[in-house]
Amino acid sequence: MTLSAVEVHNLKHAIGVAGVLPVVLSRWSPRSFSNREVAPADLERVFEAVRWTASSNNEQPWRFLVGTRNSLTYKKIFSTLIEFNQGWAGAAPVLILGVASTKFTHDGSPNTHALYDLGAAAATLALQAASLGISTHSMAGYDQDAARQILGIPESYILGAVIALGYQGEPNALVQEQLLAMEIAPRSRKPLKEFVLSAWDQPSNLG
Ligand SMILES: Cc1cc2nc3c(=O)[nH]c(=O)nc-3n(C[C@H](O)[C@H](O)[C@H](O)COP(=O)(O)O)c2cc1C
Repeated sequence: MTLSAVEVHNLKHAIGVAGVLPVVLSRWSPRSFSNREVAPADLERVFEAVRWTASSNNEQPWRFLVGTRNSLTYKKIFSTLIEFNQGWAGAAPVLILGVASTKFTHDGSPNTHALYDLGAAAATLALQAASLGISTHSMAGYDQDAARQILGIPESYILGAVIALGYQGEPNALVQEQLLAMEIAPRSRKPLKEFVLSAWDQPSNLG
């Protein structure tokens, strides 16, 4: 029995506690993307949201290289993905590489929170996209050295993840069995007691 895209989206929905933002509960990372293009105005909205992410010293160290389907940047980003990710990510209409400057602009001193800020920006990106019905899927599985070289990224920038962005596709568009199984598997998370602590090695009494 195959599930429809809507059925998969529903089963991926997190079981929520009242008061959690609906978009936090509905965001998930598909590997099946439809061939529907993302309107430039929506892509702009996504990055407008990113702009307002908090960052250390308001440095906003993030830079996003955005490749839309058939563009040279898209092809370059795609070429750096590991084989597993190339097996599905090429269906997404947009591939993005997030990087961050590791030096503060005002004095060139090290910004040790650049990657933290980039991660926060990527989370904003994912949630804003989800609020527009657009899916994202981050990937650490790519060759960072190759990406740096082929995209001309200076040494002073640290590389984050590649993000596939587009509309969720039908699960049966995934021809590899392993990918299909992952696409329809329920999502799981650690309970709060494993990561909210009142002292080291002592779970808080939340959750
Ligand atoms: C930084 C980062 C790197 C990831 N790398 C990959 C990857 O290379 N390939 C992949 O298929 N999924 C990758 N993922 C997706 C995670 O496996 C996925 O987010 C996680 O299982 C939770 O699922 P959810 O996003 O649907 O909640 C990555 C996610 C993040 C945030």
